[in-house]
Amino acid sequence: MWDYSDKVIDHYRNPRNVGKIDNADAIGEAGSLACGDSLKIYLKINNGIVTDAKFQTFGCGSAVASSSILTEMIIGKTVDEVKKITNKDIADQLGGLPPEKMHCSVMGYEALEDALKNYDDFTDLDDIRNEEAAAQKREKIVCTCFGITENVIWDAIKMNGLKTVEEITNYTKAGGACGKCKGLIQDIIDTYYKKEENEKAESTLSPAQKILKINNIIENQISPELRKDGGDITLVDIDGNKVMVKLRGKCSGCKNSHLTLKAFVETTLRDTVDKNIEVIEV
Ligand code: FES
Repeated sequence: MWDYSDKVIDHYRNPRNVGKIDNADAIGEAGSLACGDSLKIYLKINNGIVTDAKFQTFGCGSAVASSSILTEMIIGKTVDEVKKITNKDIADQLGGLPPEKMHCSVMGYEALEDALKNYDDFTDLDDIRNEEAAAQKREKIVCTCFGITENVIWDAIKMNGLKTVEEITNYTKAGGACGKCKGLIQDIIDTYYKKEENEKAESTLSPAQKILKINNIIENQISPELRKDGGDITLVDIDGNKVMVKLRGKCSGCKNSHLTLKAFVETTLRDTVDKNIEVIEV
């Protein structure tokens, strides 16, 4: 039997703001009935402030409590403040949730994020472009049993510091049925922490260490890759984040090689050394 806080029990027994708003300014959804939990949230927004919020949910007591407290948390806040709310904030406001029920707080966060995305789509053209790019990533489904996307898993790791597949299952449900996606989930965890490690290392590199590292990556990673196709690359100079390179061999004769090379070298150096690196072909 799971241990629930008094607040979870209170919000489950007396849920606040249940229902729908007929002329809502934003509506967001998360989960699906096929997966056992679903949530729809309605927002009324006036002059950038959430003046009303209601929800309809199908799910367990924790899903009801998470949705209920979420509506209380957002009413009266500005859209910018609401955008900063994470699933951890929802769980904290409830006095915590059992690990196996953390996915209910994630569902609240996802529905809220979906509602805000829909709201932004009508208010800012740049946001639409950014959201389209984000949506493409979101659409990549990792766990087909529960329809959980890479983006949801990535956000759950980022917001809650998750480190194991089991934790991901508790927070998102991904991996909780047939288990076929567990390898992919582990890959996402590994990629996330590798990226974090690289970012930490990059922020502490001295200029001399950075030059050494760029040299090393070109010699040991990039050059061998290009040599496989009969080409090569020579490092000419490094000036801050500008890396000057020269093509050799077949690469220099390839049509569009400078574009391909620039993209390949730049991506590799940005991923491994510094995300601000700019590669220039000389
Ligand atoms: S594909 Fe994720 S549990 Fe089945």
